Amino acid sequence: FSYPIPANEPVNSYAPGTPEKAALKKALADLKKKEIDIPMYIGGKAVKTGNKVAIHPPHEIKHTLGYFHAGEEKHVNQAIDAALKAKDAWTAMSWENRAHIFLKAADLLATKYRYTMNASTMLGQSKNAYQSEIDSTCELIDFLRFNVHFLSEIYKQQPVSAPGMHNRMEWRALEGFVLAVTPFNFTAIGGNLPTSAAMCGNVVVWKPANTQIYSAQLFMRILKEAGLPDGVINLIYVDGPTIGKVCFNHPEFAGVHFTGSTGVFNNMWKVIGENIAKYRSYPRIVGETGGKDFVIAHSSANVDAVVTALARGAFEYQGQKCSAASRAYLPDNIAAEVKQKLVATLKTMKMGTVEDFSNFINAVIDEKAFNSITKYIDGAKKDKKAKIIAGGNYSKKEGYFIEPTVIETTDPKYRTMCEEIFGPVLTIYTYKAADFEKTLDLVNNTSAYALTGAVLSQDRAAVELATNKLRNAAGNFYINDKPTGAVVGQQPFGGARASGTNDKAGSMLNLFRWLSARTIKETY
Ligand code: ALA
Repeated sequence: FSYPIPANEPVNSYAPGTPEKAALKKALADLKKKEIDIPMYIGGKAVKTGNKVAIHPPHEIKHTLGYFHAGEEKHVNQAIDAALKAKDAWTAMSWENRAHIFLKAADLLATKYRYTMNASTMLGQSKNAYQSEIDSTCELIDFLRFNVHFLSEIYKQQPVSAPGMHNRMEWRALEGFVLAVTPFNFTAIGGNLPTSAAMCGNVVVWKPANTQIYSAQLFMRILKEAGLPDGVINLIYVDGPTIGKVCFNHPEFAGVHFTGSTGVFNNMWKVIGENIAKYRSYPRIVGETGGKDFVIAHSSANVDAVVTALARGAFEYQGQKCSAASRAYLPDNIAAEVKQKLVATLKTMKMGTVEDFSNFINAVIDEKAFNSITKYIDGAKKDKKAKIIAGGNYSKKEGYFIEPTVIETTDPKYRTMCEEIFGPVLTIYTYKAADFEKTLDLVNNTSAYALTGAVLSQDRAAVELATNKLRNAAGNFYINDKPTGAVVGQQPFGGARASGTNDKAGSMLNLFRWLSARTIKETY
């Protein structure tokens, strides 16, 4: 079964007057009309615990979208048992049949559930229509289709044979179960982490962030409708420490597919290391963690291109992307013009609910995020080394709203130049245009992370210099573009250093991590 390289799913614009805009508006209204009751899914069964937790849109905290049923330790054990029970039949199923389920899920997302999925991400995660279309629907469809393609290519990889013998590679699933832990910010990542492992024949326990459950449960239902057998993916809502306690002590633990903070990932790695003798095999530890992503402009850069890279790179989805531009290095010959145009651009970005499609900026995800981001802003207001040149105001009266904020600093090692903020805050440092090469060293040495970065320059020699000197500073490096918005199949995504294991989501490399090959030699 060979599945050719697919085309990326076309993105709707939701421009005024389009039929898709009307359909999306209807889906939003339908979802807002009723509070839904959200069970966990263990062994294919809907599990309700009665321990109900309310879900509110981050931009409208007085409204309730529904309630999820929180689980406890026994549900983690039940999910593992259900996964292991499903394992033999799932690995025995032909690859064609396994692939068909994920391709069907992609088609269901592209058609029947497209607007409901977008609306779920918009309401549950406060992401505007266009960003939701890109990341909840199209990117998830792409992950499913491209991963089927990549896997069909991997299965073709076979050793040579010789007279009197036949050699082959059996691309087995891992022994045991895989844990998928997914973040709030991309519905597509939520869908990709469990399905990429499952597609390879693994069985999965999936723990989404609480703030992602509203869209995650819809994807789980779509997978069931597409024919995913019971127990192959088990969706549970249990706190992280309890999940870790059960899964990382289990002899059948085979690996973790994680996207989230560096701190949590480091802790997981430590606990897994301490328990290493308990496992049947060395677990696969795959993680995409934080970022402190840079944009450096050269003196030859096109000013408008720099402004666009910063405005979109730093503030789309309120900067809540691990890839978001959050530190900018501007040469003194264009810095004043870039800042003036950036501040003017930010003034045109309306902030408010997702239901008004003219709002570019919506709310940050929850109160914890709101408090942590605004602390950086308050710090900058008081600090002599920093000056706020745009935004700086915030309110949590209706929802968790923070204005797109630009801080200027004279200290390239100022706190907001180094630490991940994960919100709508960009810090700018101006350097002497003649010091471009020295500034590249600064970019490289300022942060522990190495996820994404961008250089803007019309001078090819400067592009080459930046590309070489920043070789290890970013796993995704953009030339004359913003550092966000990697497209599946086009820009495989991930970074090294404190940003993760760089196993490139949306590439063959990632799928290899969920396979354990057996070499078979047969003589005759
Ligand atoms: N893949 C996401 C991006 O590139 C994180 O922005």
